[in-house]
Amino acid sequence: MPILVTGGAGYIGSHTCVELLNAGYEIIVVDNLMNSKQESLSRISEIAGKSFPFYQVDLLNEQELEKVFIENEIDAVIHFAGLKAVGESVRLPLRYYHNNITGTINLLNIMKKYDVNRMVFSSSATVYGMPERVPISEDFPLSALNPYGRTKLMIEEILTDLYKSDHKWSIALLRYFNPIGAHKSGMIGEDPNGIPNNLMPYITQVAVGKLPELSVFGNDYPTADGTGIRDYIHVVDLAKGHLKALEKVSTSNGIESYNLGTGKGYSVLEMVEAFEVATGVSVPYKIVTPRPGDAAICFADASKARKEMEWAAEKSLREMCEDSWRWQSKNPNGYDENLIQTGTGNPHSKSGDFFHVKID
Ligand code: NAD
Ligand code: WQD
Repeated sequence: MPILVTGGAGYIGSHTCVELLNAGYEIIVVDNLMNSKQESLSRISEIAGKSFPFYQVDLLNEQELEKVFIENEIDAVIHFAGLKAVGESVRLPLRYYHNNITGTINLLNIMKKYDVNRMVFSSSATVYGMPERVPISEDFPLSALNPYGRTKLMIEEILTDLYKSDHKWSIALLRYFNPIGAHKSGMIGEDPNGIPNNLMPYITQVAVGKLPELSVFGNDYPTADGTGIRDYIHVVDLAKGHLKALEKVSTSNGIESYNLGTGKGYSVLEMVEAFEVATGVSVPYKIVTPRPGDAAICFADASKARKEMEWAAEKSLREMCEDSWRWQSKNPNGYDENLIQTGTGNPHSKSGDFFHVKID
């Protein structure tokens, strides 16, 4: 029976769809494309050599969502769909609560109606708030620093209450650390709208010449070089974690949370250097004031996922940088077909310059 993937056109969802198809799963994708492009779905299909049904449906539209369950027998749901920009969530909290929480409740109501009880949920290391220590294990106290984080925390609580009310449910809460990288083919990857909020897409956009320089948010943290430390994980390793979680929810009932990280932390300046070494492209940067709400150090204790799901991240930081760069350099404008690249190279290497043309 197929796996329903909500948000399957997005960054992590698209990589997970490829891994699911490669492993022989049938999939159905639901996405309203509010933060993704349909082109990513064609590319998933091309990489895996398989096609799959896609429903352009908003989780807020219960009737349309129910049709997906009427037309298909679904075994389990991997639930990626949600808005994820921290700053935007502070400006537009109601949009975040409505989309992420109401969307999830709609999905759960329909799952209940059609007796689909297995879910793998995209949570986030953000549920640890400002961690007091590292490495962070799943039993650390939970808190939220912004509305986005609160939606993740609230959904974890909703899912916990649901399991308590009915032990038929089987749920994995996957707390991702910092996903970066892209599929080896360079055909799918992260395609942020506008100026990226996150470090790696910012670095690759500087490297490709779309942005002039990286702003490093603070160099006075209590770390060796003063810049913030995070646990960066290759998105393909992360995607594989979903297949392990799917096996887990298919073989036992309950609700469990798992950290998906490497257990290693790198500073912002170490990331810049690793990127330059892996790609040969320089990334100019300047130090600016810290970003409010940023923790100094955040990395996972990922031993629970290793013990209980037999999952561990395998890819090196070098591969993360190489693969992020392959995606960005092959697709300087992401999936956007209306923008074409002319010229070659990047402004920080000696090979030339390029610019973008918008086709009306
Ligand atoms: P993404 O924005 O690339 O993918 C999310 C997808 O969900 C998009 O394709 C979007 O169009 C879709 N979507 C959003 N709201 C929807 C709705 N109401 N109905 C239907 N589709 C909807 O994000 P991503 O980076 O792939 O993240 C996937 C999930 O993982 C999100 O829930 C995110 O909060 C979580 N997460 C991401 C990160 C990260 O750094 N990328 C870290 C931790 C957790
Ligand atoms: C990493 C490091 C920044 C950008 C965010 C969300 C979190 C989760 C993952 C979804 C930090 C520094 C960044 C830049 C910089 N998402 N930085 N200049 O903040 O760990 O986590 O994404 O759940 O909820 O908060 O990731 O990539 O934004 O930052 O110096 O332009 O890079 O200060 O130290 P973060 P990030």
